[in-house]
Amino acid sequence: MAKKLFIKTYGCQMNVYDSARMADVLAPLGYASVDTAEDADMVILNTCHIREKAAEKVFSDLGRLRPLKERKERLGGNMVLAVAGCVAQAEGAEILRRAPYVDIVLGPQTYHRLPEMIARAARAASSEVKSGRGVIDTDFPVEPKFDFLPDPGVSGPSAYLSVQEGCDKFCTFCVVPYTRGAEFSRPAADVLAEARHLVAQGAREIVLLGQNVNAYHGQAPKSRAGSARVWGLGRLMLEAAGIEGLSRLRYTTSHPADMDDDLIRAHAEVPAVMPFLHLPVQSGSDSVLAAMNRRYTADDYRRIADKLRKVLPDMALASDFIVGFPGESRADFEATLKLVEDVGFAQAYSFKFSPRPGTPAAAMEQQIAENEKAARLAELRALIERSQAAFNARFAGKTVAVLFDRKGSRANQLAGRSPHMQAVHAAAPDSLFGAIAQVEVERTAVNSLTGRIGPHPAPEARAGAAA
Ligand code: SAH
Ligand code: SF4
Ligand code: F3S
Repeated sequence: MAKKLFIKTYGCQMNVYDSARMADVLAPLGYASVDTAEDADMVILNTCHIREKAAEKVFSDLGRLRPLKERKERLGGNMVLAVAGCVAQAEGAEILRRAPYVDIVLGPQTYHRLPEMIARAARAASSEVKSGRGVIDTDFPVEPKFDFLPDPGVSGPSAYLSVQEGCDKFCTFCVVPYTRGAEFSRPAADVLAEARHLVAQGAREIVLLGQNVNAYHGQAPKSRAGSARVWGLGRLMLEAAGIEGLSRLRYTTSHPADMDDDLIRAHAEVPAVMPFLHLPVQSGSDSVLAAMNRRYTADDYRRIADKLRKVLPDMALASDFIVGFPGESRADFEATLKLVEDVGFAQAYSFKFSPRPGTPAAAMEQQIAENEKAARLAELRALIERSQAAFNARFAGKTVAVLFDRKGSRANQLAGRSPHMQAVHAAAPDSLFGAIAQVEVERTAVNSLTGRIGPHPAPEARAGAAA
């Protein structure tokens, strides 16, 4: 009988991708995924360390898992409990101290070693020594973390594909360079092979992932003599767009300093590259940006937005913001509000600055009081909502091509994404799941569009992409 594997994923899309690959690594060992920890044989918490709240959740979840594990053991079974991801990397020893019943702690670059760690944990558990038995691996090994194709199962209509990992930028607030290690790009041939595989499994859309995805600089395929030895993201997408059956390409998350002209050109010239860009700006104040070590000014960001909209006037821009960074004055904060008004965002996430252990910003003077951070966050969010609502309102009465990738909230409804990444709901038969259909927009709101299936073929189908 198959062993039951439950993986809980926190944090970013990279973790979602990694969780799926860990399931692939464990499938040959007889593990099949289930959707509850209840009587699982193995539980993996794939964790996020980006803000304090995210990291603390892990310890409360571990506390809830403990009695489940103990009950399983009383009944003569075993529940292997593993903590993976960025909290594991940052606080490995601390996890084993606070939760000594954890069997395995593994950092984000060690997932291919999971089978061997399970074997080691089993040996440790069967030994008489009951204290400090946890197995820990938070190396940054030289071998690639996944050098295989995903499990040949069925893919959803939209699939993630990791192309770049790690970060060398060291923004002063951020843990990622410490938890994910140095920036690394996968060779283009590997990425393209995985993309073809995902399309063969049923993916219509591929989302290329990286902590700094537009810094991608992968080795060009050897067979392409004469072309550049290294490909950037624009070149990679040009090639991926040629895969038959692939209709849509997206990529996330990008850094403004790496937004080169090739990539902007890909948006203009490759129909499969969707008119949406998640380009976090963090702040609209130059002095805060400098203190964050972001390496661009607010006007640099405005210029990128202008360039993009020159080639694609309705380009949807998304962003992330941090409010209450140490030293942020009222004037600095107002510069952020001004930037939101100037640029106009289709979507944006905003966060209160969270001091992270070991990062330079955590030790800076002039930390902002919690109530001030909360007030600024509320003010910024209200403005962002207006910006999102205005962006969506432009689509009222228009027709958008929707890739239906999930059930809607009501019966007989499907939901999916427009090219501009808006969530779209429409009454639709199940047979349209996984298809791109044309939807006439009837209502628009802050976070979604609602419409009905239109009579004409989807614009992307007309543009020549496979429908
Ligand atoms: N690589 C991306 C962001 C990765 S982290 C970039 O360079 O923009 C995702 C988001 O979390 C960030 O954009 C930032 O807005 C937020 N974030 C990161 N560290 C944070 C911290 N210490 N406090 C609050 N928000 C943080
Ligand atoms: Fe973190 Fe992004 Fe800055 Fe890298 S570029 S340090 S991932 S915020
Ligand atoms: Fe979180 Fe690590 Fe992703 S800290 S946001 S899971 S890279």
